[in-house]
Amino acid sequence: MSVSRMMAGILQQGTHPFPYAILICWGAGNALPSRSLSISICLSHMTVPYLREASSADLPALVDLENAAFAGDRISRRDWRHLLTSPSALVIVSDDAAGLTGCSVILTNRRTAVARLYSLAVAPRARRQGIAQALLQQAIASSAGTGAHLLRLETRSDNLPAQALFSRHGFRPFKRVANYYEDGAEAIRFQRLIDHDCLRQSALQ
Ligand SMILES: CC(C)(COP(=O)(O)OP(=O)(O)OC[C@H]1O[C@@H](n2cnc3c(N)ncnc32)[C@H](O)[C@@H]1OP(=O)(O)O)[C@@H](O)C(=O)NCCC(=O)NCCS
Repeated sequence: MSVSRMMAGILQQGTHPFPYAILICWGAGNALPSRSLSISICLSHMTVPYLREASSADLPALVDLENAAFAGDRISRRDWRHLLTSPSALVIVSDDAAGLTGCSVILTNRRTAVARLYSLAVAPRARRQGIAQALLQQAIASSAGTGAHLLRLETRSDNLPAQALFSRHGFRPFKRVANYYEDGAEAIRFQRLIDHDCLRQSALQ
């Protein structure tokens, strides 16, 4: 396993309006000789979902979520199986009592220090509750944990909700790719610098 593994839990402070999210990260395998732990505490204005790394047991629910969230260009069951075991992929999910509410997939490439947000999806029943925002913040932190300096992604040029989300989180468009999707739609490539000093400081607070 060469990517850092990261999970998030919540410590809700009674009636305090701000939930406290505790992010716990560790690197393992050939990335670090021994496991190291760091804890960061973040404040958010939104309810912070419980995030965890997906396992093979999540495969059926991931396929269902993919079908519910995307009309085309879906990740197949076979590809999910591969992503769940690949050392260069990190699949993070959020769930509640009714099942998976969201998912992100990060692909890392240690040769280029560029990580890729390969997929981000939230179940229709769970949208506008800050789940994508939490998954995105986790993706940025996880990418930093792998040593990446840049996080890149593609989205459809007609996907305005996703573009609003990415712009709000520091991603900037840098390229348009014609005929990128199955139906011929154009993609916009976004990227965001990963400020390791800033992330390190927040981890120490
Ligand atoms: C895009 C998507 C991931 C957003 O998920 P979400 O959990 O509803 O998003 P959040 O609640 O975290 O929203 C965070 C911010 O993103 C922006 N945003 C999210 N959905 C939006 C929408 N429908 N319209 C406009 N802005 C939107 C807003 O700025 C929002 O902040 P606000 O609620 O304070 O206004 C979700 O709609 C989805 O899964 N869509 C289908 C798959 C997809 O398009 N994936 C991303 C491209 S690969």
